[in-house]
Amino acid sequence: MRHLIDFGDLTRQEWDELYARASSIMDDPSRYIDACRGRVMASLFYEPSTRTNFSFQTAMLRLGGTVFGFADPNSSSVAKGETLKDTVKMVSGYADVVVMRTPWEGAAKAASLYSHVPVVNAGDGGHMHPTQTTADLTTITRLLGKVDGLSVGLCGDLKNGRTVHSLVKALAKFEDIRFFLISPRELAIPDYMRTFMLEKDMRFTEVTGLEAVIPQLDVLYMTRIQRERFVDPLEYERNKGIYILTRRKLERAKERMLVMHPLPRVDEITVDVDDDPRAAYFEQARYGMFARMSLLADLANQPRLDRTETVEIGTRPVCRNPRCITQTEHYLPPLVKKNGGVDCCAFCDGALS
Ligand code: CP
Repeated sequence: MRHLIDFGDLTRQEWDELYARASSIMDDPSRYIDACRGRVMASLFYEPSTRTNFSFQTAMLRLGGTVFGFADPNSSSVAKGETLKDTVKMVSGYADVVVMRTPWEGAAKAASLYSHVPVVNAGDGGHMHPTQTTADLTTITRLLGKVDGLSVGLCGDLKNGRTVHSLVKALAKFEDIRFFLISPRELAIPDYMRTFMLEKDMRFTEVTGLEAVIPQLDVLYMTRIQRERFVDPLEYERNKGIYILTRRKLERAKERMLVMHPLPRVDEITVDVDDDPRAAYFEQARYGMFARMSLLADLANQPRLDRTETVEIGTRPVCRNPRCITQTEHYLPPLVKKNGGVDCCAFCDGALS
């Protein structure tokens, strides 16, 4: 692995190694206090974050490395109009690994084309969030002892919820997973994810109601309705508060079902659920730090590229997704990939026809 842009970049063996190292770190953190000694992490957060930003920073510090960057792009030359390419060229000259979160879909992939060091996608718009998935899989494995064979309910804003997209990509690498995709119709998973699931022969049922399926689940993964992604505020108003997990609803769930949530929550899990032994979301956030330590111990120690490969210069966006990075960074090459036989934008996965 050179970058982590999409969980699909990881083989199952690479994930198993990453998890084994995360477990080893949890069991004996003292063995890893120098794993990144002398290494520097750049943390470029163009969007707000609590867990991802702080857990990456603490992960690097706990490995003996150091951190620089911004949590507000207006404090950098981005505010003067500097391109993503130039920012990444500069920063990858100073750092050994670049962690970035942006509102633009495909931005981490774009950055990886120009970076001399590994780039980690810490969330790109409503597209992907693969390091959240490392936290999610670590949580499931530690608390349930396995991932294969589970029934997983994904509930809420499945259209804009990047954590859901990455988790589905990851679970494609496991055996016999059954999905219940619980969302209002207008917030159903995007076409590129449905195509992916069909192509991989994944078992899934799309439903609008939570209560009917809750007794069947081993994992219930709640998500926030992602207000910041809605173009139409009325669509948000129609859907906010649509799923609220309460203690009463949990009465029908399995005794060992995990309640997970990438956080932050708004109102989709009531506070009284926090004390239920099935509530795993705060542990999940802490597991995320160990999973990110494991990732950094590998990526921050990769050799630096003296030269990056020559990249074709684009002239206009071929992708019509208004949230795709190619809409704002016009020099990006018109990269195309196949998904289910359909031509898609290689940055944001949007269908091109
Ligand atoms: N789960 C997650 O990405 O949280 P933050 O937005 O606070 O980083």
